[in-house]
Amino acid sequence: MLQLQGIELALPNGNGGNNNGLSPVLRGIDLTLEEGKFYAITGPNGGGKTSLARLIMGIYRPTAGHIFWRGEEITGLSITERAQRGIGYAFQQPPRFKGLRVRDLLELAAREQPSDPNGSLLRRLCHSLRSVGLCPEDYLEREVDASLSGGEAKRLEVATLLLRKVQLVIYDEPESGVDLWSFDQLLRVILERHRRGGMTTAVITHHEQVLLQADEIILIAEGEVKARGPRAEMWPLITDRARCRWRRSCEEENDEAGCTR
Ligand SMILES: Nc1ncnc2c1ncn2[C@@H]1O[C@H](COP(=O)(O)OP(=O)(O)OP(=O)(O)O)[C@@H](O)[C@H]1O
Ligand SMILES: [Mg+2]
Repeated sequence: MLQLQGIELALPNGNGGNNNGLSPVLRGIDLTLEEGKFYAITGPNGGGKTSLARLIMGIYRPTAGHIFWRGEEITGLSITERAQRGIGYAFQQPPRFKGLRVRDLLELAAREQPSDPNGSLLRRLCHSLRSVGLCPEDYLEREVDASLSGGEAKRLEVATLLLRKVQLVIYDEPESGVDLWSFDQLLRVILERHRRGGMTTAVITHHEQVLLQADEIILIAEGEVKARGPRAEMWPLITDRARCRWRRSCEEENDEAGCTR
């Protein structure tokens, strides 16, 4: 369904003199996501998970390699063109849109789905908000600006994706900033949506509860896919901390060079 071939990604490192100011972020990524599967993508902080999602969404362009969606090369397509093909992404840090109300944001998302002759648009918007635990009467008229808390913004993003017509959806750490009780509900709706069929779901996560739901786990570290496979095979690798040799530790003696300059 989605195929990444020989993907390399370099991003500005803010250090102009070094490597033309670029640092490698993803290296030699060959990855296929199959239709209908529920994937968990995990790995140490800074490993490249969000960069991979941004690359699939078209926010970043690869330095080398190709991306195919259902046999069509989409490497050169814009974010909008990829979204039109049914690829959706919920940001690790959802963007805010000053001046745009929650109602406007949800209406834009709902436009993609054919409307149900028996249900009004407003009812669909309210249902999506309720399903992520946000009361429509409190949120519909609010602005999608910095006044939303981190957890509220994350939940609103999931509500938006529930309304969209997507075939591949990537949630970037849906657990982050969401309280324990709301996260149970959020994961439940993500799973329900997935099980209704017709879609592939990838959840970038550090949360055991999500990993336990995955058909397959993909481990990304140091900009590479280090391992992938069915949950049962991957579980020992994920849970045995001593075996996760990719987690970078920062010992004092290794750090001295950078701190004495
Ligand atoms: N826009 C950017 N410009 C330059 N470097 C970046 C940019 N975005 C990410 N990086 C770097 O790329 C590497 C991978 O970052 P990324 O955000 O993809 O990691 P991640 O696996 O999602 O980590 P986390 O678990 O902390 O969310 C990091 O070293 C990060 O500093
Ligand atoms: Mg990330």
